[in-house]
Amino acid sequence: MKTLLNNTSNASNIINGFTGFNRVKVTNSSNENNSGSKFHFSTIKTAITGENLLKPKANTEMNLGQIPNLRDVCLNLFNTFFINDAPYSALQFVPILEKLQTINQDQIRRFLLNPETNHVLIQNDLIKVVLIHWKPGKISSIHGHPSGGCVFKVLQGQVEELRYTTDASPQLLSSSTYMAGSMAYIDDRMGYHAVGNPFNSPAVSLHAYTPGIKK
Ligand SMILES: [Fe+2]
Repeated sequence: MKTLLNNTSNASNIINGFTGFNRVKVTNSSNENNSGSKFHFSTIKTAITGENLLKPKANTEMNLGQIPNLRDVCLNLFNTFFINDAPYSALQFVPILEKLQTINQDQIRRFLLNPETNHVLIQNDLIKVVLIHWKPGKISSIHGHPSGGCVFKVLQGQVEELRYTTDASPQLLSSSTYMAGSMAYIDDRMGYHAVGNPFNSPAVSLHAYTPGIKK
């Protein structure tokens, strides 16, 4: 992947759509930990099919309509490992998530009734995909995304992201609010972050990471 995307939003930005992204050329030079063994990755690619890609629980919940039907986007996210070479980066998921349109409101309404709020849709050595319902007031801890990083897309409501320095006493670097349809990318070269919903309405976001299992 030659041309990648980088979120360079400034403090207190409110970003609609993808205008907050500047196209920049980056290297994956610090992603050696994600280069892995080609044999190992090819083994995973061969073992995973459209039938067993989703976690069984997520598959059941999609069948029951308890979480939105994201089968196609999950498959397309996984397929990016066939068209990109290691070291992998969550930036390779951006073109797929850009195409993901707003989720059907009936599916969102049913999802918001689900008492569980964190749903792991896929998790294997290559990729982890998590669908999160952010109830008003729910905020994550400050955390990092080493190696290939994380990209997330807001599917409903608004999500706030606070970015911090990566030292022992993280200092606030920026605050951004992402509207439905917006995306952001982060890895540890850019800082740590906390994500949440300080607003009055529920929010939903889809997060994709690589690698999928922290070593
Ligand atoms: Fe995160």
